[in-house]
Amino acid sequence: MVNTKINLCGIEIDNPIIPASGTFGFGYEFAELYDINELGTFSFKGTTKDPRFGNPTPRIAECPAGMINSVGLQNPGVDKVISEELPKLKACFDKKVMANVSGFSLDEYAYTCEKLDSQEQIGWFEVNISCPNVHNGGMAFGTSAEAAAQVTKAVKAVTTKPVFIKLSPNVTDIVSIAKACEENGADGISMINTLLGMRIDLKTQKPVIHNKMGGFSGSAILPVALRMVYQVYEAVNIPIIGMGGVSTAEDVIEMMLAGATAVQVGAANLVEPFACKNIIDSLPAVMEKYSINNLTDIIGGAH
Ligand code: FUM
Repeated sequence: MVNTKINLCGIEIDNPIIPASGTFGFGYEFAELYDINELGTFSFKGTTKDPRFGNPTPRIAECPAGMINSVGLQNPGVDKVISEELPKLKACFDKKVMANVSGFSLDEYAYTCEKLDSQEQIGWFEVNISCPNVHNGGMAFGTSAEAAAQVTKAVKAVTTKPVFIKLSPNVTDIVSIAKACEENGADGISMINTLLGMRIDLKTQKPVIHNKMGGFSGSAILPVALRMVYQVYEAVNIPIIGMGGVSTAEDVIEMMLAGATAVQVGAANLVEPFACKNIIDSLPAVMEKYSINNLTDIIGGAH
């Protein structure tokens, strides 16, 4: 029997497979398809202080081996997440969930995290400083080491649970940003968010996406994500949740060899709602094929 359990900042989870924020709603939607307790955990839809309708449509564009989204942090706001979404989740999920939080100022990040910190269902925070789809916030905090440090400090001051900072790949030096987060108290790093991209409609000769650009994800970005996880693993001593183009158990193992302790699956859930279940089901056989008894042993094994 192989061992797929991993420890994520003091919480043991049954396997390292985590549906990524924005691709799994608040979980209960997928519980209609399968028992979501099979997951290690999942990261819920990016939550902000106030409700958000999101960006105008079109906000999705298909691409070879991936897709572009420009959702714009659509969510019901933290109060409704606490009063409506978390109770629905509790009815179908016994495990700790990862709270994904976005903001437009340091105060907003802190406000939302402080409110969620009191919720016993939440095991970890994933603080998104890398959303490419909003102005005056999101990625603006994730493209400078100083701003990333400030968000980390502001959130750590008001939370008691482990905080992962979710980083943008749209930077020249992701390592310096990861180090700034670690130096300011981050318990872990989530990486990578989407790559800024665009498509142009040949009939209209205009951008497909209303906001012109959006975040590119899907299997095409796996090599970029692996490279960045590999680089950051060499520079920090906190756990990394690796993501970007993961869609198979083999990809999970590759991501862990690069340095990830756990692995998020994003765009694949939008193509195949059973993607995470399929990965979890196939993981033991793939581990056996590569003579891996204990997943924890392979973290950073490629270094
Ligand atoms: O809702 C969104 O646009 C989220 C984007 C992101 O953080 O990648």
